[in-house]
Amino acid sequence: MNKITAAITAVGAYVPDYVLSNQVLETMVDTNDEWITSRTGIKERRILKDKDKGTSFLAIKAAQDLLQKSGTKPEDIDMVLLATATPDMPVAATAVYVATQIGAVNAFAYDLQAACSSFLYGMSTAAAYIQSGRYKKVLLVGADKMSSIIDYTDRATCIIFGDGAGAVLFEPNEEGYGLQDEYLRSDGIGREYLKIDAGGSILPASEETVANKQHYVFQDGKTVFKYAVSNMADVSEKIMSRNNLSHDDVDWLIAHQANKRIIDATASRMNLDDSKVLVNIEKYGNTTSATLPLLLSDYEHQFKKGDNLVFASFGGGFTWGSIYLKWAYDKK
Ligand code: UT7
Repeated sequence: MNKITAAITAVGAYVPDYVLSNQVLETMVDTNDEWITSRTGIKERRILKDKDKGTSFLAIKAAQDLLQKSGTKPEDIDMVLLATATPDMPVAATAVYVATQIGAVNAFAYDLQAACSSFLYGMSTAAAYIQSGRYKKVLLVGADKMSSIIDYTDRATCIIFGDGAGAVLFEPNEEGYGLQDEYLRSDGIGREYLKIDAGGSILPASEETVANKQHYVFQDGKTVFKYAVSNMADVSEKIMSRNNLSHDDVDWLIAHQANKRIIDATASRMNLDDSKVLVNIEKYGNTTSATLPLLLSDYEHQFKKGDNLVFASFGGGFTWGSIYLKWAYDKK
Protein backbone atom coordinates (compact mmCIF):
# COMPACT_ATOMS: atom_id res chain seq x y z
CA MET A 1 0.00 0.00 0.00
CA ASN A 2 1.20 3.52 -0.80
CA LYS A 3 2.08 5.93 1.98
CA ILE A 4 -0.95 7.93 3.18
CA THR A 5 -0.60 11.69 2.98
CA ALA A 6 -3.16 14.23 4.26
CA ALA A 7 -4.66 16.30 1.45
CA ILE A 8 -6.95 19.31 1.55
CA THR A 9 -9.98 18.25 -0.51
CA ALA A 10 -12.43 21.12 0.09
CA VAL A 11 -12.52 24.73 1.28
CA GLY A 12 -15.21 27.01 2.73
CA ALA A 13 -15.34 30.53 4.15
CA TYR A 14 -17.50 33.18 5.76
CA VAL A 15 -17.08 36.84 6.61
CA PRO A 16 -19.77 39.05 8.18
CA ASP A 17 -21.46 41.69 6.02
CA TYR A 18 -20.55 44.81 8.01
CA VAL A 19 -17.50 46.60 6.57
CA LEU A 20 -15.40 48.74 8.90
CA SER A 21 -13.37 50.98 6.59
CA ASN A 22 -10.31 53.08 7.37
CA GLN A 23 -12.50 56.13 6.80
CA VAL A 24 -14.90 55.09 9.56
CA LEU A 25 -11.96 54.34 11.88
CA GLU A 26 -10.77 57.93 11.27
CA THR A 27 -13.95 59.05 13.04
CA MET A 28 -13.33 56.74 16.02
CA VAL A 29 -9.62 57.20 16.86
CA ASP A 30 -6.74 59.50 15.93
CA THR A 31 -5.66 57.75 12.72
CA ASN A 32 -5.90 58.15 8.97
CA ASP A 33 -6.29 56.02 5.86
CA GLU A 34 -2.81 56.92 4.60
CA TRP A 35 -1.10 55.74 7.81
CA ILE A 36 -3.07 52.48 8.02
CA THR A 37 -2.60 51.66 4.33
CA SER A 38 1.12 52.41 4.18
CA ARG A 39 1.98 50.75 7.53
CA THR A 40 -0.25 47.65 7.25
CA GLY A 41 -1.84 47.32 3.78
CA ILE A 42 -5.32 47.22 5.34
CA LYS A 43 -8.22 49.19 3.79
CA GLU A 44 -11.18 47.57 5.53
CA ARG A 45 -12.19 44.70 7.79
CA ARG A 46 -15.41 42.80 8.51
CA ILE A 47 -17.13 42.98 11.89
CA LEU A 48 -19.79 40.68 13.34
CA LYS A 49 -22.15 43.29 14.75
CA ASP A 50 -24.79 40.99 16.29
CA LYS A 51 -24.28 41.17 20.05
CA ASP A 52 -25.67 37.68 20.68
CA LYS A 53 -23.43 35.90 18.13
CA GLY A 54 -19.95 34.61 18.83
CA THR A 55 -17.13 32.83 17.00
CA SER A 56 -19.28 29.70 16.63
CA PHE A 57 -21.61 31.62 14.30
CA LEU A 58 -18.70 32.42 11.96
CA ALA A 59 -17.30 28.88 12.19
CA ILE A 60 -20.67 27.22 11.48
CA LYS A 61 -21.20 29.41 8.40
CA ALA A 62 -17.72 28.57 7.01
CA ALA A 63 -18.20 24.85 7.70
CA GLN A 64 -21.63 24.88 6.07
CA ASP A 65 -20.16 26.63 3.02
CA LEU A 66 -17.59 23.82 2.72
CA LEU A 67 -20.18 21.07 3.17
CA GLN A 68 -22.48 22.59 0.59
CA LYS A 69 -19.77 23.24 -2.01
CA SER A 70 -18.14 19.81 -1.66
CA GLY A 71 -21.28 17.74 -1.16
CA THR A 72 -19.77 16.28 2.02
CA LYS A 73 -22.27 14.67 4.39
CA PRO A 74 -21.77 16.02 7.91
CA GLU A 75 -22.37 12.58 9.46
CA ASP A 76 -19.28 11.28 7.59
CA ILE A 77 -16.94 13.70 9.41
CA ASP A 78 -14.79 11.99 12.06
CA MET A 79 -13.42 15.03 13.80
CA VAL A 80 -13.92 18.82 14.01
CA LEU A 81 -10.95 20.93 15.06
CA LEU A 82 -11.59 24.62 15.70
CA ALA A 83 -8.57 26.90 15.62
CA THR A 84 -9.51 30.02 17.55
CA ALA A 85 -8.25 32.59 20.03
CA THR A 86 -11.78 33.84 20.76
CA PRO A 87 -13.90 30.85 21.83
CA ASP A 88 -17.59 31.49 22.57
CA MET A 89 -16.86 30.90 26.27
CA PRO A 90 -13.72 30.12 28.32
CA VAL A 91 -15.06 26.65 29.16
CA ALA A 92 -17.05 24.35 26.85
CA ALA A 93 -15.05 23.97 23.65
CA THR A 94 -16.66 25.95 20.83
CA ALA A 95 -15.75 23.18 18.35
CA VAL A 96 -18.19 20.82 20.07
CA TYR A 97 -21.09 23.21 19.56
CA VAL A 98 -20.03 23.83 15.95
CA ALA A 99 -19.88 20.08 15.22
CA THR A 100 -23.38 19.55 16.63
CA GLN A 101 -24.86 22.53 14.80
CA ILE A 102 -23.54 21.39 11.40
CA GLY A 103 -24.81 17.85 11.97
CA ALA A 104 -21.42 16.18 12.45
CA VAL A 105 -23.08 13.74 14.84
CA ASN A 106 -20.37 11.07 14.52
CA ALA A 107 -17.46 13.42 15.15
CA PHE A 108 -15.55 14.35 18.28
CA ALA A 109 -14.37 17.94 18.51
CA TYR A 110 -12.08 20.30 20.37
CA ASP A 111 -10.48 23.77 20.16
CA LEU A 112 -6.86 24.57 19.44
CA GLN A 113 -5.34 27.88 20.57
CA ALA A 114 -1.99 29.21 19.43
CA ALA A 115 -2.95 32.83 18.67
CA CYS A 116 -2.32 33.71 15.01
CA SER A 117 -0.67 30.32 14.38
CA SER A 118 -3.73 28.36 15.54
CA PHE A 119 -4.74 27.37 12.02
CA LEU A 120 -1.21 26.44 10.93
CA TYR A 121 -0.75 24.24 14.00
CA GLY A 122 -4.25 22.87 13.35
CA MET A 123 -3.14 21.80 9.87
CA SER A 124 -0.34 19.81 11.48
CA THR A 125 -2.74 18.17 13.97
CA ALA A 126 -5.40 17.38 11.37
CA ALA A 127 -2.80 15.93 9.00
CA ALA A 128 -1.28 13.76 11.73
CA TYR A 129 -4.67 12.16 12.49
CA ILE A 130 -5.14 11.40 8.79
CA GLN A 131 -1.59 10.12 8.21
CA SER A 132 -1.90 7.76 11.17
CA GLY A 133 -4.79 6.09 9.36
CA ARG A 134 -7.06 6.64 12.36
CA TYR A 135 -9.56 9.04 10.76
CA LYS A 136 -10.73 9.67 7.19
CA LYS A 137 -12.37 13.09 7.30
CA VAL A 138 -11.05 15.83 9.57
CA LEU A 139 -12.73 19.25 9.35
CA LEU A 140 -10.41 22.07 10.38
CA VAL A 141 -12.06 25.46 10.92
CA GLY A 142 -10.20 28.69 11.69
CA ALA A 143 -12.51 31.36 13.13
CA ASP A 144 -12.15 34.46 15.24
CA LYS A 145 -14.44 37.24 16.39
CA MET A 146 -11.53 39.58 17.10
CA SER A 147 -13.94 42.49 17.60
CA SER A 148 -14.96 40.85 20.92
CA ILE A 149 -11.49 41.46 22.42
CA ILE A 150 -10.49 44.75 20.80
CA ASP A 151 -10.60 48.16 22.45
CA TYR A 152 -12.01 50.49 19.80
CA THR A 153 -10.42 53.48 21.52
CA ASP A 154 -6.90 52.00 21.13
CA ARG A 155 -5.50 52.97 17.72
CA ALA A 156 -2.55 50.60 18.14
CA THR A 157 -4.82 47.54 17.81
CA CYS A 158 -8.27 48.51 16.52
CA ILE A 159 -7.05 49.30 13.02
CA ILE A 160 -5.51 45.85 12.58
CA PHE A 161 -8.04 43.16 13.41
CA GLY A 162 -11.21 41.85 11.79
CA ASP A 163 -13.69 38.97 12.12
CA GLY A 164 -13.94 35.97 9.81
CA ALA A 165 -13.78 32.21 9.35
CA GLY A 166 -12.50 29.60 6.92
CA ALA A 167 -12.64 25.82 6.81
CA VAL A 168 -10.76 22.99 5.09
CA LEU A 169 -11.38 19.26 4.90
CA PHE A 170 -8.40 16.92 5.24
CA GLU A 171 -8.66 13.43 3.72
CA PRO A 172 -6.21 10.58 3.04
CA ASN A 173 -4.40 10.60 -0.31
CA GLU A 174 -2.34 7.79 -1.80
CA GLU A 175 -0.89 9.73 -4.76
CA GLY A 176 1.43 11.85 -2.66
CA TYR A 177 -0.65 15.07 -2.57
CA GLY A 178 -1.22 16.99 0.64
CA LEU A 179 1.04 17.92 3.53
CA GLN A 180 4.68 17.19 2.75
CA ASP A 181 6.64 18.81 5.57
CA GLU A 182 6.29 21.19 8.50
CA TYR A 183 8.60 23.29 10.63
CA LEU A 184 6.78 24.65 13.70
CA ARG A 185 8.34 26.69 16.50
CA SER A 186 7.34 28.56 19.67
CA ASP A 187 9.04 30.76 22.28
CA GLY A 188 7.44 31.83 25.58
CA ILE A 189 9.39 35.08 25.77
CA GLY A 190 6.70 36.37 23.42
CA ARG A 191 3.82 36.40 25.85
CA GLU A 192 4.72 39.83 27.20
CA TYR A 193 4.37 41.46 23.79
CA LEU A 194 0.98 40.27 22.55
CA LYS A 195 -1.58 39.26 25.16
CA ILE A 196 -4.79 39.72 27.09
CA ASP A 197 -3.81 40.16 30.73
CA ALA A 198 -7.04 39.30 32.51
CA GLY A 199 -9.73 36.67 32.41
CA GLY A 200 -7.37 33.73 32.80
CA SER A 201 -6.11 31.86 35.86
CA ILE A 202 -3.42 34.41 36.76
CA LEU A 203 -5.72 37.40 36.79
CA PRO A 204 -9.39 36.37 36.91
CA ALA A 205 -12.04 38.90 35.92
CA SER A 206 -12.86 41.52 38.55
CA GLU A 207 -14.29 45.02 38.68
CA GLU A 208 -10.71 46.25 38.68
CA THR A 209 -9.64 44.29 35.57
CA VAL A 210 -12.65 45.62 33.69
CA ALA A 211 -11.99 49.20 34.81
CA ASN A 212 -8.33 48.83 33.79
CA LYS A 213 -9.33 47.51 30.33
CA GLN A 214 -7.29 44.35 30.91
CA HIS A 215 -9.67 42.15 28.92
CA TYR A 216 -8.60 43.71 25.64
CA VAL A 217 -5.69 42.75 23.38
CA PHE A 218 -2.44 44.50 24.20
CA GLN A 219 0.28 44.51 21.54
CA ASP A 220 3.78 45.96 21.52
CA GLY A 221 3.58 46.22 17.75
CA LYS A 222 7.18 47.21 17.05
CA THR A 223 8.63 44.23 18.95
CA VAL A 224 6.16 41.75 17.49
CA PHE A 225 6.89 43.14 14.02
CA LYS A 226 10.63 42.59 14.46
CA TYR A 227 10.23 38.97 15.59
CA ALA A 228 7.57 38.26 12.94
CA VAL A 229 9.71 39.48 10.05
CA SER A 230 12.81 37.48 10.96
CA ASN A 231 11.08 34.30 12.17
CA MET A 232 8.51 33.93 9.40
CA ALA A 233 11.19 34.43 6.78
CA ASP A 234 13.56 31.99 8.54
CA VAL A 235 11.08 29.10 8.69
CA SER A 236 9.89 29.63 5.12
CA GLU A 237 13.47 29.57 3.87
CA LYS A 238 14.13 26.48 5.98
CA ILE A 239 11.12 24.57 4.60
CA MET A 240 12.24 25.41 1.07
CA SER A 241 15.84 24.36 1.56
CA ARG A 242 15.12 21.07 3.30
CA ASN A 243 12.64 20.09 0.57
CA ASN A 244 14.98 21.23 -2.22
CA LEU A 245 12.44 23.81 -3.41
CA SER A 246 13.82 26.70 -5.43
CA HIS A 247 11.78 29.89 -5.81
CA ASP A 248 10.67 28.52 -9.20
CA ASP A 249 9.27 25.39 -7.56
CA VAL A 250 7.06 27.31 -5.11
CA ASP A 251 3.74 28.18 -6.78
CA TRP A 252 2.06 30.08 -3.93
CA LEU A 253 2.97 31.67 -0.62
CA ILE A 254 0.03 31.51 1.81
CA ALA A 255 1.20 33.74 4.64
CA HIS A 256 -0.62 34.94 7.75
CA GLN A 257 -2.13 38.34 7.00
CA ALA A 258 -0.93 40.52 9.89
CA ASN A 259 0.89 43.22 8.00
CA LYS A 260 1.64 43.57 4.28
CA ARG A 261 5.21 44.58 5.12
CA ILE A 262 5.79 41.28 6.99
CA ILE A 263 4.38 39.30 4.05
CA ASP A 264 6.62 41.21 1.61
CA ALA A 265 9.71 40.62 3.75
CA THR A 266 9.01 36.87 3.84
CA ALA A 267 8.40 36.73 0.08
CA SER A 268 11.56 38.67 -0.58
CA ARG A 269 13.68 36.27 1.52
CA MET A 270 12.14 33.38 -0.47
CA ASN A 271 12.99 35.29 -3.65
CA LEU A 272 9.38 34.90 -4.83
CA ASP A 273 7.73 36.82 -7.61
CA ASP A 274 4.84 39.05 -6.38
CA SER A 275 2.39 37.07 -8.51
CA LYS A 276 2.90 34.04 -6.25
CA VAL A 277 2.27 35.91 -3.02
CA LEU A 278 -1.38 35.70 -2.00
CA VAL A 279 -2.76 38.76 -0.25
CA ASN A 280 -6.24 39.72 0.94
CA ILE A 281 -5.30 41.78 4.02
CA GLU A 282 -6.71 44.90 2.34
CA LYS A 283 -10.25 43.41 2.59
CA TYR A 284 -10.25 41.65 5.95
CA GLY A 285 -7.34 42.92 8.09
CA ASN A 286 -5.88 40.39 10.51
CA THR A 287 -8.54 37.76 11.25
CA THR A 288 -6.10 35.71 13.41
CA SER A 289 -7.07 32.02 12.91
CA ALA A 290 -9.00 32.72 9.71
CA THR A 291 -6.33 34.37 7.53
CA LEU A 292 -4.91 31.20 5.96
CA PRO A 293 -8.22 29.49 5.08
CA LEU A 294 -9.66 32.80 3.82
CA LEU A 295 -6.71 33.00 1.41
CA LEU A 296 -7.37 29.43 0.30
CA SER A 297 -11.01 30.25 -0.29
CA ASP A 298 -10.33 33.51 -2.17
CA TYR A 299 -7.67 31.94 -4.45
CA GLU A 300 -8.90 28.31 -4.71
CA HIS A 301 -9.92 28.84 -8.36
CA GLN A 302 -6.28 29.58 -9.29
CA PHE A 303 -4.73 26.47 -7.70
CA LYS A 304 -3.86 23.49 -9.90
CA LYS A 305 -3.43 19.87 -8.85
CA GLY A 306 0.22 19.41 -7.93
CA ASP A 307 0.91 23.07 -7.12
CA ASN A 308 3.43 23.61 -4.32
CA LEU A 309 1.98 25.78 -1.54
CA VAL A 310 4.14 27.16 1.26
CA PHE A 311 2.18 28.30 4.33
CA ALA A 312 3.75 30.58 6.95
CA SER A 313 2.50 32.24 10.11
CA PHE A 314 3.64 34.17 13.15
CA GLY A 315 1.58 34.93 16.23
CA GLY A 316 1.36 35.72 19.91
CA GLY A 317 3.05 33.41 22.35
CA PHE A 318 5.25 33.53 20.28
CA THR A 319 4.14 30.80 17.86
CA TRP A 320 5.27 30.46 14.27
CA GLY A 321 6.07 28.03 11.51
CA SER A 322 5.87 26.96 7.91
CA ILE A 323 4.13 24.08 6.12
CA TYR A 324 4.76 22.71 2.63
CA LEU A 325 1.66 21.22 0.99
CA LYS A 326 0.98 19.85 -2.50
CA TRP A 327 -2.47 20.95 -3.73
CA ALA A 328 -4.69 17.93 -4.51
CA TYR A 329 -7.35 19.07 -6.99
CA ASP A 330 -8.36 21.34 -9.86
CA LYS A 331 -11.47 23.36 -9.09
CA LYS A 332 -14.36 22.47 -11.36
O1 UT7 B 1 -0.83 38.64 13.95
C1 UT7 B 1 -0.05 38.43 15.07
C2 UT7 B 1 1.25 39.10 14.97
N1 UT7 B 1 1.10 40.53 14.89
C3 UT7 B 1 1.85 41.20 14.03
O2 UT7 B 1 2.58 40.62 13.27
C4 UT7 B 1 1.80 42.71 14.09
C5 UT7 B 1 3.18 43.28 14.04
N2 UT7 B 1 3.25 44.71 14.16
C6 UT7 B 1 2.81 45.55 13.21
O3 UT7 B 1 2.23 45.14 12.24
C7 UT7 B 1 3.15 47.02 13.35
O4 UT7 B 1 4.07 47.18 14.39
C8 UT7 B 1 1.92 47.93 13.61
C9 UT7 B 1 1.05 48.00 12.37
C10 UT7 B 1 1.11 47.41 14.78
C11 UT7 B 1 2.40 49.34 13.92
O5 UT7 B 1 3.21 49.83 12.87
P1 UT7 B 1 4.65 50.47 13.17
O6 UT7 B 1 5.21 50.88 11.86
O7 UT7 B 1 5.44 49.47 13.97
O8 UT7 B 1 4.28 51.73 14.00
P2 UT7 B 1 4.79 52.17 15.44
O9 UT7 B 1 4.05 51.42 16.50
O10 UT7 B 1 6.28 52.16 15.47
O11 UT7 B 1 4.33 53.67 15.47
C12 UT7 B 1 4.90 54.67 14.58
C13 UT7 B 1 4.19 55.98 14.80
C14 UT7 B 1 4.12 56.39 16.26
O12 UT7 B 1 4.20 57.81 16.33
P3 UT7 B 1 5.57 58.53 16.67
O13 UT7 B 1 5.99 57.99 18.02
O14 UT7 B 1 6.53 58.13 15.58
O15 UT7 B 1 5.21 59.98 16.68
C15 UT7 B 1 2.74 55.96 16.68
O16 UT7 B 1 2.24 56.69 17.75
O17 UT7 B 1 2.83 55.88 14.35
C16 UT7 B 1 1.95 56.22 15.43
N3 UT7 B 1 0.77 55.38 15.33
C17 UT7 B 1 -0.31 55.69 14.57
N4 UT7 B 1 -0.59 56.76 13.81
C18 UT7 B 1 -1.78 56.76 13.17
C19 UT7 B 1 0.54 54.16 15.91
N5 UT7 B 1 -0.65 53.70 15.54
C20 UT7 B 1 -1.21 54.62 14.73
C21 UT7 B 1 -2.43 54.70 14.02
N6 UT7 B 1 -2.66 55.78 13.28
N7 UT7 B 1 -3.36 53.71 14.09
